[in-house]
Amino acid sequence: MKNQKNKKESDALETNQPIDELPNTYHIPVLLKEVIHGLNIQPDGVYVDCTFGGGGHSKGILRQLSAKGKLVAFDQDDDARKNLLDDERVIFVPQNFRHLQRFLRLHNITAIDGVMADLGVSSHQFDEGGRGFSIRYNAELDMRMDQRQSLTAFDVVSTYTETQLHKLFEQYGEVTNSKTLAKKIVAVRNTLSLKTIDDFKNAVREIVKGNPNKYFAQVFQALRIEVNDELGALKEMLTQIPSLLKPGGRVAIITFHSLEDRLVKNFFRRGSFDEQPDQNPFINTEPVNELNAVTKKPVVPSEMEMKQNTRSRSAKLRIAEKKMMV
Ligand SMILES: C[S@@+](CC[C@H](N)C(=O)[O-])C[C@H]1O[C@@H](n2cnc3c(N)ncnc32)[C@H](O)[C@@H]1O
Repeated sequence: MKNQKNKKESDALETNQPIDELPNTYHIPVLLKEVIHGLNIQPDGVYVDCTFGGGGHSKGILRQLSAKGKLVAFDQDDDARKNLLDDERVIFVPQNFRHLQRFLRLHNITAIDGVMADLGVSSHQFDEGGRGFSIRYNAELDMRMDQRQSLTAFDVVSTYTETQLHKLFEQYGEVTNSKTLAKKIVAVRNTLSLKTIDDFKNAVREIVKGNPNKYFAQVFQALRIEVNDELGALKEMLTQIPSLLKPGGRVAIITFHSLEDRLVKNFFRRGSFDEQPDQNPFINTEPVNELNAVTKKPVVPSEMEMKQNTRSRSAKLRIAEKKMMV
């Protein structure tokens, strides 16, 4: 079951096509109406879009804001700048959202009315062959969302130990033969080049299981999550949200695979990332949860949205609200 969920994301990413009748070819916003409705926007409020991308969700938020409202938009990819909006209410922060609080403070913002994130890569990043995110192109094995960072996917496959590689392919890609793959990479990397996507695919070709496109999509998903420390950044960002939100303020997060969704679900429900609360009956070790989950079950796209935008197929939206009093 878990395997199927992660595979769905890889498939959706690999088959994503821009849709002609929809305006934005950089990225089509997913669950747009649901996010805007879920944020319960206060017209004069201060909002944060942690993942600006093509600006689809940001535009939706701005439409609900008055001239007094403010939107802070983060994106660690310099390419997102080309979508910047000519709007005085917008502050663009070209940084990783794991530094949310720090950069808000820099702009003298200590309390916000709402925050959202639409996780993962944009269609643009995926469709730019040279960025190395997609198995459809040959390019350097890169996969950095933030090109100022030094670690690339090539560094991961050429320097990580066999155990580290095994763990990341298993946990982040649910690759069926992750142990064999890790072993193969370590065995060939001193004699064969792994510099490009084609080099890498050729080097491990003989141990590929099942449909090669699906197999490599899972392998690439795992590498991408590692290179960008996607789960680490998500955890850090979520942890900062309760103290930033004003009472009654909302947080909306869209995830694309079960690893992310589990973190968001647990954090919204219990204020912690752990699956099970501690069972000591004498000491209450549960963290104080400052949030109330508004969505008990994740909101998923309609049939129509999934048909129009295949990338939306594995999207899950969860919303929480800061309690009035803790
Ligand atoms: C799925 S796209 C967002 C698309 C956007 N909602 C829209 O409607 O166009 C994700 C964007 O978030 C950015 N991103 C992902 N993780 C990030 C992080 N940790 N910090 C900052 N930006 C991040 C990516 O560079 C990408 O542009």
